[in-house]
Amino acid sequence: MHMHRSSSSSSSCLPSLCSLHTFIGLAVILCVYFTLQTSISLQDKSLPSEQIKTVLPSSLEFLQPQRLQSKNIRLVDQQPFRPYEIPSTDQPPPYPKPETPTPKTTTTTKTTTTTTTTTTETEVLGGLAEDFVITWGDHRGKFHENGSLLTLSLDKHSGSGFESKNKYLFARIDMKIKLIPNNSAGTVTTFYMSSNGTTHDEIDFEFLGNTTGQPYTLHTNIYCQGKGNREQQFYLWFDPTTDFHSYSILWTPSRIVFFVDDTPIREFKNMESFGVPFPNKQPMRIISSLWNADDWATQGGKVHTDWSKAPFVASFRDFSASSCVWAFGSSSCDGSDPELMGSENGWLREELDSKSLEKMKWVQKNHMTYNYCNDKLRFHEGLPKECTIRRSKRGRQRQ
Ligand SMILES: *[C@@H]1O[C@H](CO)[C@@H](O)[C@H](O)[C@H]1NC(C)=O
Ligand SMILES: *[C@@H]1O[C@H](CO)[C@@H](O)[C@H](O)[C@H]1NC(C)=O
Ligand SMILES: *[C@@H]1O[C@H](CO)[C@@H](O)[C@H](O)[C@H]1NC(C)=O
Ligand SMILES: *[C@@H]1O[C@H](CO)[C@@H](O)[C@H](O)[C@H]1NC(C)=O
Repeated sequence: MHMHRSSSSSSSCLPSLCSLHTFIGLAVILCVYFTLQTSISLQDKSLPSEQIKTVLPSSLEFLQPQRLQSKNIRLVDQQPFRPYEIPSTDQPPPYPKPETPTPKTTTTTKTTTTTTTTTTETEVLGGLAEDFVITWGDHRGKFHENGSLLTLSLDKHSGSGFESKNKYLFARIDMKIKLIPNNSAGTVTTFYMSSNGTTHDEIDFEFLGNTTGQPYTLHTNIYCQGKGNREQQFYLWFDPTTDFHSYSILWTPSRIVFFVDDTPIREFKNMESFGVPFPNKQPMRIISSLWNADDWATQGGKVHTDWSKAPFVASFRDFSASSCVWAFGSSSCDGSDPELMGSENGWLREELDSKSLEKMKWVQKNHMTYNYCNDKLRFHEGLPKECTIRRSKRGRQRQ
């Protein structure tokens, strides 16, 4: 721009006044200008496209969604893909379908089977249909076998999802899940608990698909008061696509534990006394979904969903829960009723015994692929408090 202006202003004086001297001077300037231009453009072409992105003005980052923003940060840092870059609550908005049959009639059919004579067998719904409603995805979410099996499917047009009818304030929930077989690259299956709003709490299992034969990534996270950033990821020690395996969340006033086939893989203790927030005030629903996230899910977004393999199907069965159901502003485990706090609700006081702790250690040593508590590069201003508390506690124990 600057060059251009100066050359046009000098060209107006060329025919009349300029001496040979200025003409040569100008020629030299132009020559230098063009040499610089070509070398810059050559350099541009030799840059890999990723590096070009790093020279984007940093102000642009604010215009981009969280995920892209962190991708750019990664490129600037020249670091490998950071597995925590997962927008765990970003799923397609649930599309509530008012035309879905009202849950009440389906749950009561068990006792009043005579009402089902006019309709198809699928109306006889017990099992999962007692606890869950399909919330979005049209016909892509389905109950089968009288409600004992639920499938979610994903095709080019939409994914699907379901949600618990109840809200819970503390629970121990188990679900058996069989993940999408073969090529599931680009897909994400979720099973999590969440409350609503900008300061919501959330406890996440997310299963990031992969190409045939490559391992699924089990992603876990915990949000308190709208803030997550507590990611841990694992490879499973079995193929989660050939059989049903159980995935459980224990959520009590004192801890959150993630289990896979009854093996604890992660524990997050209540450390409120150390100033670490813990989700214990907002009731949550159990939510599950299957959706396309091929812009980031598999191998950092490099592998895309192969729609020729659609529909992709994940299956759910054998849900069970010990829980404190939240209704009309109070909990079914209210402390005012000593009976409810008795043996039946022993899970509320469940702790990991030494054997379970051993197992968890084994999983974390051999199958954990990412732990936010070890990511000093990411938290360059200091690791989150809960990570360092645990360490200093351990240190104290050793002394
Ligand atoms: C579903 O329930 C009906 C009526 O109770 C029964 O006849 C049928 O065998 C059940 N189907 C399955 C797959 O369990
Ligand atoms: C997965 O791949 C196996 C082996 O190639 C094949 O037999 C099976 O039908 C595939 N399953 C699905 C659901 O596509
Ligand atoms: C969150 O809000 C949506 C929409 O109002 C509602 O359907 C859902 O049940 C709420 N979830 C919880 C846990 O309150
Ligand atoms: C998929 O497989 C690749 C190669 O083994 C692995 O690096 C990656 O972590 C796996 N998971 C995902 C979600 O990409």
